[in-house]
Amino acid sequence: MKNITFTMIKPYAVECGNIGTILDIIITHNFKIRAMKYTRLSRSQAEKFYSVHKDRPFFNDLVEFMSSGPIVAAILEKENAVNDYRELIGSTDPAQAAEGTIRKLYGYSVQKNAVHGSDSDENAIIESNFFFPTFERY
Ligand code: RTP
Ligand code: MG
Repeated sequence: MKNITFTMIKPYAVECGNIGTILDIIITHNFKIRAMKYTRLSRSQAEKFYSVHKDRPFFNDLVEFMSSGPIVAAILEKENAVNDYRELIGSTDPAQAAEGTIRKLYGYSVQKNAVHGSDSDENAIIESNFFFPTFERY
């Protein structure tokens, strides 16, 4: 059964000109784009999106970074979307990520790790709803 995951191309990857090549990898691996937008999170939107991490020591830096410039947000559909996408992006730390993964190829550091990917079906739905009303999904 097909299901969805949610991704963002993070500010540093956008700044480095890697939107096109990252989208190409996503599409080549059979993820269908159900929704997509180029936007920038305000500080309060980033705080809300990452509220699950609010007690972590890196929360403030994460919010600062994720609101520092434009991002690409998208809903991706595929069989086993959440797990397959986590596999395609690789470990949180690009230095630990497997060869050929998006974070290995385009990540720069734990913070500037190129992309976000949902960690569960439940969070994929919550995160998708955060960015996209139903009339912006195809
Ligand atoms: P993401 O949510 O962005 O897909 O990343 P993830 O599941 O692999 O990692 P998560 O634990 O959810 O952390 C969210 C983001 O916070 C930043 N982070 N910084 N400085 C640090 O120790 C640290 N740890 C995490 C990363 O940018 C990570 O993607
Ligand atoms: Mg996460």
